[in-house]
Amino acid sequence: MEEKLSRVAKTLKPSPIQELSHLAQRCNAINLAEGFPDFPAPPHVKEAAVSAINSDFNQYRHVQGICDHLAKQMKQNHGLHVDPLTDIAICCGQSEAFAATIFATINQGDEVLLFDPAYETYEACIAMAGGIPVYVVLDPPHWTLDLDKLMTYFTVRTKAIVLNSPHNPTGKVFTKDELEAIAGACRTKDCLAITDEVYEYITYDLERHISLASLPGMQERTIITSSLSKTFSVTGWRVGWAIAPACIASAIRNIHVKITDSAPAPFQEAALTALRSSPEYFESLRREYEAKRDYVLKLLVGAGFQIHFKPQGSFFVFAELPVNCPLSDVEFVSELIRQAGVAAVPGCGFFHTNLSSLGLSQADQTYQKRYIRFAFCKSDATLSAAAHKMGETVDGNGHLKLF
Ligand SMILES: Cc1ncc(COP(=O)(O)O)c(C=O)c1O
Repeated sequence: MEEKLSRVAKTLKPSPIQELSHLAQRCNAINLAEGFPDFPAPPHVKEAAVSAINSDFNQYRHVQGICDHLAKQMKQNHGLHVDPLTDIAICCGQSEAFAATIFATINQGDEVLLFDPAYETYEACIAMAGGIPVYVVLDPPHWTLDLDKLMTYFTVRTKAIVLNSPHNPTGKVFTKDELEAIAGACRTKDCLAITDEVYEYITYDLERHISLASLPGMQERTIITSSLSKTFSVTGWRVGWAIAPACIASAIRNIHVKITDSAPAPFQEAALTALRSSPEYFESLRREYEAKRDYVLKLLVGAGFQIHFKPQGSFFVFAELPVNCPLSDVEFVSELIRQAGVAAVPGCGFFHTNLSSLGLSQADQTYQKRYIRFAFCKSDATLSAAAHKMGETVDGNGHLKLF
């Protein structure tokens, strides 16, 4: 039967990380692996969904109020003028908004720049459209973008660059200088920018999210994608959007209608209530995640991990293995699940660049197997249970003795 599969289907393989996911389930491990909250959604948002179901919003639906509100928000937060009637496509989560954007803009053979490490789904969408992902390496340990090198990745075939800030898996928020360099490169090379801003409201300390589209000359070449998923702890509701120049937004809408027709009707209704949440809601989201970040950082440092980079946004810590740990990231996570009963994600799945092709020494290439991603979008009870379990697997210095 395999021969009946399409070329694309054959190239999409389950990642080795999925095996660890199964191991975690078998061991009933505490889940610090996946990026979805295990605590309830805000009551006012849940009530709006229940009320929409009770009001029989059961059919295909486009809730224009979402677009009206997003346009207002874009003006307030980023100074952008967005026409709610023409420039927004409501989709099933950022994932569909991103896929539809790729299908709306990428032809066979077009190159798309991505920053490495990267969230895993971008590459698959680009490949399905026949595009070629080209990775721009972010340098560890602070995941800095080498501004001089950036231009060297562009070729005559570069059609778009993907920017995810705040960033999964590192927690990096791209700096103003980095954004200006990316914007400058896009303008010079007449290149589109596709942004993934799902963590736009989850930033820490004094960091605040800046949308690339708000830089001079960028709105007319940027497609912003985002969703309700992370801001309102409703990753299963599947409501997201793309905001783009009218002609691109219209193409995204057409593709969305052909694939899914519309996002879930009752959850679109609830999205309206969610997006209209008070400023206090967004502030407390930030504050609560910051406390969780600090708790997990302390836990991981205490367990012997090397934290070179304190997350500035999103809800992940990308921690380096202890200095003298001989295990790879995959081996370490496997032991962490078996011995401590805690699951995390080995970092290797987020790296895509063959570093030997860049002429890096063997020693410099090893970092791709030395990072583990911990998700802290979990209840305080889950986080303290993880701390307790890890505490049972420590040596006299308080460090994890998994190796
Ligand atoms: C960077 C990033 N983008 C997008 C998504 C998925 O967003 P959505 O649920 O809106 O499809 C995730 C989920 O983990 C993510 O980390």
